[in-house]
Amino acid sequence: MSMTDYEIINHEHDVVIVGAGGAGLRATLGMASAGLSTACLTKVFPTRSHTVAAQGGMSAALANMGEDSWQWHMYDTVKGSDWLGDQDAIEYMCREAVPAVIELEHYGVPFSRTDDGKIYQRPFGGMTTNFGEGVAQRTCAAADRTGHAILHTLYQQSLKHKAEFYIEYFVTDLIMEEGVCRGVMAWDLTTGDLHCFRGHQVVLATGGSGRAYFSATSAHTCTGDGSAMVLRAGLPLQDMEFVQFHPTGVYGAGVLITEGVRGEGGYLTNAEGERFMERYAPNAKDLASRDVVSRAMTLEINEGRGVGPDKDHIFLNLQHLGPEVINERLPGIAESARIFSGVDVSKDPIPVLPTVHYNMGGIPTNYKGEVVTLDGDDPDKTVPGLMAIGECACVSVHGANRLGSNSLLDIIVFGRAAAIRAAELIKPNTPHKVLSNDIFDALLARFDKTRYADGGTPTGQIRDEMQRTMQKYAAVFRTGETLKQGVKEMQKIFDSFADVKVKDRGMQWNTDLLETLELENLLAQAQTIIAGALNREESRGGHAREDFPDRDDDQWMKHTLAWVNDKGTVKFGYRPVHMYTLTDECEVIPPKKRVY
Ligand code: FUM
Repeated sequence: MSMTDYEIINHEHDVVIVGAGGAGLRATLGMASAGLSTACLTKVFPTRSHTVAAQGGMSAALANMGEDSWQWHMYDTVKGSDWLGDQDAIEYMCREAVPAVIELEHYGVPFSRTDDGKIYQRPFGGMTTNFGEGVAQRTCAAADRTGHAILHTLYQQSLKHKAEFYIEYFVTDLIMEEGVCRGVMAWDLTTGDLHCFRGHQVVLATGGSGRAYFSATSAHTCTGDGSAMVLRAGLPLQDMEFVQFHPTGVYGAGVLITEGVRGEGGYLTNAEGERFMERYAPNAKDLASRDVVSRAMTLEINEGRGVGPDKDHIFLNLQHLGPEVINERLPGIAESARIFSGVDVSKDPIPVLPTVHYNMGGIPTNYKGEVVTLDGDDPDKTVPGLMAIGECACVSVHGANRLGSNSLLDIIVFGRAAAIRAAELIKPNTPHKVLSNDIFDALLARFDKTRYADGGTPTGQIRDEMQRTMQKYAAVFRTGETLKQGVKEMQKIFDSFADVKVKDRGMQWNTDLLETLELENLLAQAQTIIAGALNREESRGGHAREDFPDRDDDQWMKHTLAWVNDKGTVKFGYRPVHMYTLTDECEVIPPKKRVY
């Protein structure tokens, strides 16, 4: 089609948020209630965003169930990040956790309660008291459906504050002019119309790209759309080689079984019935951080001590917890285990396997949610008009490995921070600059090319090849040799997209085209993950290189930046880790060897 045949419907808002998961909704609520004209665009109905699947809870040092302090939380998070986390951002997150969770309580989130009516908090991996000495009960939970509870509350509050929702709109690209983000182009899946949404700040809250892998706890919608838009705009992603494997995905299905199970006293066993985590992490045992547990499980399986006919998974035991704990604290996973593995958790263990769960990397930002890039000697240059929050962003509070329950915290704290910053930057109803006439040409050309793609390879085939390749080569354990092979295979798969076939040419509910655009987004990110994994010659957090088994702070205590061109070629740069704090109420935590 000629580009002039596409009509574009224009909208002007103060702010445009892309994504309606926990981060997007918390920003939407904050911006709308600050009096900004706020549009939230989402490809799925808000309460179906992937945050709905978050189970175990949100960390905050409330000290409801024992001693706690945000400084201890900060210490755990820096240590958990394997010293790749930015300590200013970590300080901000752990300090703001306390007011942020109380705010959620006041908005109406139905948290579980202690006998004296306080928010219930459970232990989670890597969360300690007194700088590593004891076990902290820090994870605020609404049974094992915390994400569900938060998402519904935030959606209701956003409606109350008159945020405007554009539901089942797929955002295709950022509108960038001379390095400034001016808005987004979006496709209304229902009517088939194309839209331009202008905003003085565009906030990307589009989640992770877990679906680059074959087995993931992520929803099928987790295709990293915002991150891919950033790459297409010529900006880098950060630390993409760090992919978290959650120890307990249901074997075969990948569905999440919350770490809260181990927080409530569940434990892992191998084929000999041994609680093997006692060997790998004598102190933290089953509540060691996720990278440690996932590696231990993989080693047990590789050494022939896996369970099942093929000795290829591990058992998670919670039979001993009894019906009271299971029904009150873990009802959701009891149901998931029954549906996805046919197990009655009161009688039998759940078969589990480390499963891709979270991208520590993403769009680099500062702790106010503003996107940053490397500009000459300036590693913290902000990109005007563009923010990113939640899993699509890399603040970086998780560094090389995220602690469980720091993700719900991240999305709430930084969704809130972005709203605070937008209210500082934008005067409501400020007019928008007129865009140049040809601004949509390249964006429409890409869309049209994909819509009419007439090659010989179905989208599903390319996606399957990508997912299997990533699963095989960018796995829990990595080596230079297999990564080199993986990079080669992924380049072939990236190139095969030139031969993709889209059968449906329509504009209304064309899921064939939608999935193809999502695949294109995933392919670019898969390139950054696997090339980044080959590039980083050390082991740190979730990135375990068998050929470089040690953490190398001299060479590698730095953030990777990765740019991808339209041929799939990845170029690298680096930003320093922020080894400073925002206030003198805490100290920089210097790197040291980790003891589990
Ligand atoms: O295990 C879980 O409930 C997951 C929590 C998280 O990833 O933060």
